[in-house]
Amino acid sequence: MNTRRYRVEVMHGVNLDQLGRRDPDTYGTLTLRELESQLYAWGKELGLTVRCRQTNHEGAYVDWLHEAIDGADGLVLNPAAWTHYSYAIRDALEPFAKPIVEVHLSNIDEREEWRRFSVISDLVAKRIAGKGPDGYREALEFLAEPR
Ligand code: DQA
Repeated sequence: MNTRRYRVEVMHGVNLDQLGRRDPDTYGTLTLRELESQLYAWGKELGLTVRCRQTNHEGAYVDWLHEAIDGADGLVLNPAAWTHYSYAIRDALEPFAKPIVEVHLSNIDEREEWRRFSVISDLVAKRIAGKGPDGYREALEFLAEPR
């Protein structure tokens, strides 16, 4: 019997280490550390093995996506501003054959024009935007569904 738990990598991109002090009207007051604690608690509740990481370096993010090809069963990605223009991140994601959920704290569809476009949208199974931290719970619930 295979009892290995479903491994989810949660990857936060550029500037998301500033959560809590960065434009709280848009992103809320929760710090990244608090958000990650929530994610670990939700993961435990849902029977998932969750790992959260954040970087301000696009190359590091790309390296983590490469590692995830063998190391993860599902991804929760908030690439932050990279969402809108990083073809390097898009290319790194293409070989990942398992479910990907794109999450944004704010509703990018109702903000500036340039935020409405995501270079990864056609590669993801689900996109959740504008639900704040609850969006991450929804992403984990989606990944925990039997498939
Ligand atoms: C974001 C939205 C992006 O447009 C922005 O650059 C971010 C955060 C969000 O979570 O709402 O840094 O991804």
